[in-house]
Amino acid sequence: MFVCSECGYNSTDWLGRCPNCSEFGTLEEETGVEEDSGTSFDGAKPDKESLSSIEVDEHPRLSTGMSELDRVLGGGVVPGGVVLLGGPPGIGKSTLLLQWGDSWDGDSERPILYLNGEEAGSQIARRAERIESQSDRVELISAQSIEAVIDQLPDWKPSLVFVDSIQTVTSEESNGMPGSMSQLRAVTQAVVEASKKYMVPFVLIGHVTKEGDIGGPRRLEHMVDTVLYFDDAERGFRFVRSAKNRFGPTGELGIFEMTSSGLDPIPDPGEYFCSPSAQESGCMLTVSLEGSRPLLVEVQALVSPGQYGSPQRSATGFPRKRLLMLIAVLEKKLGVPLGEQDIFVNVTGGLSLDDTAVDLAMAMSIVSSYKDEPLPRRSIGIGEVGLTGRVRSPGQIDRRLREARRLDPGPIVTGGEPGEDSDGGISSVSSIAEAVKHLLG
Ligand code: TYD
Ligand code: MG
Repeated sequence: MFVCSECGYNSTDWLGRCPNCSEFGTLEEETGVEEDSGTSFDGAKPDKESLSSIEVDEHPRLSTGMSELDRVLGGGVVPGGVVLLGGPPGIGKSTLLLQWGDSWDGDSERPILYLNGEEAGSQIARRAERIESQSDRVELISAQSIEAVIDQLPDWKPSLVFVDSIQTVTSEESNGMPGSMSQLRAVTQAVVEASKKYMVPFVLIGHVTKEGDIGGPRRLEHMVDTVLYFDDAERGFRFVRSAKNRFGPTGELGIFEMTSSGLDPIPDPGEYFCSPSAQESGCMLTVSLEGSRPLLVEVQALVSPGQYGSPQRSATGFPRKRLLMLIAVLEKKLGVPLGEQDIFVNVTGGLSLDDTAVDLAMAMSIVSSYKDEPLPRRSIGIGEVGLTGRVRSPGQIDRRLREARRLDPGPIVTGGEPGEDSDGGISSVSSIAEAVKHLLG
């Protein structure tokens, strides 16, 4: 069986070009995958039991010892759980593993295996020195075959196994090249089986090949229990996000900063995502919810007369479609003539926000930049803007307001009926026009 590594198309013959997605040279032979033999009913009765009689599995958590990592994992790893940690080269994946090994809560009598196929042992030792690793539990293994390592598990009895990276190990179940899709699948399959059999958690590092295309690791997501992605951002920030979590919430964000001695967790980002800017036109604060965590962030807009032909609209960290919608609403409902203007918007700190609660602050920043009038110092906008120009109060507003109040806010504007709750510097506005009137006069 040949499988396209791009789209998963199956073919019984090798083809130079995938007939489904038209990519060249993507068909790879897959072995160890049984063709559907059309199993027939053998007469055995399936088990049947009442749903209420089944005990709910409580998954005990093993803390990683790093609060920001525990946050994205939903409290830690589950024994027998397989975590895939994807990210581009150089982001800090291997550093994170070593720190995890250092602070790991698991049985101190049992070793942590670090299956290393990426670097020389001395490079890892140097990294361990940089992070001032105290742990002597981490044991480095250089083996290419995952089965060779799995065979030793009953002897070595590790409390945790790192595989750095999945692209550099191979499984005997596949005859593909290391890093090929069929190898990645076979290795992951072997790891999933071993982790459940020996109840040992595994962490698989997966290189993300190029931007936009997550290459192999994305196609392994369905096989593992938890998928984390490591992103970078401005000023040395590193974000870890959970894209999938069978044992906990997804969408959680862990924040680290890369320092000269490893990754520093940032448990309370406070004002990290606001620039210390004084009163300038074109910026406003908002509180975005990333997973369960409210973050105070600054959004910025630059509106300037377009020079060449059709005006530019560019958005960094904010959905472009949403920007186009806000521009249309501002033109139609407020009569702000933005048609000939170039508009650039940005979220500071390199965060990417798709929380609609950011709309109000973004729209206000655009108006403020257009008018070249600053908003009041540290003013905060929290609200979703609809097509009619109406401002709605977003979900979990109390949580957001609590965070806003904690951080020396200026006037806070949110959606709702006017006067509904105007205590403590908080005003509710029902429309974007009203918000502009309130803050920019
Ligand atoms: P690394 O963990 O090797 O990344 P990955 O495994 O994802 O490829 O480290 C990434 C970068 O971080 C590398 O360029 C060096 C830098 N770094 C620091 O700045 N401080 C440190 O303490 C360490 C260990 C690495
Ligand atoms: Mg590495």
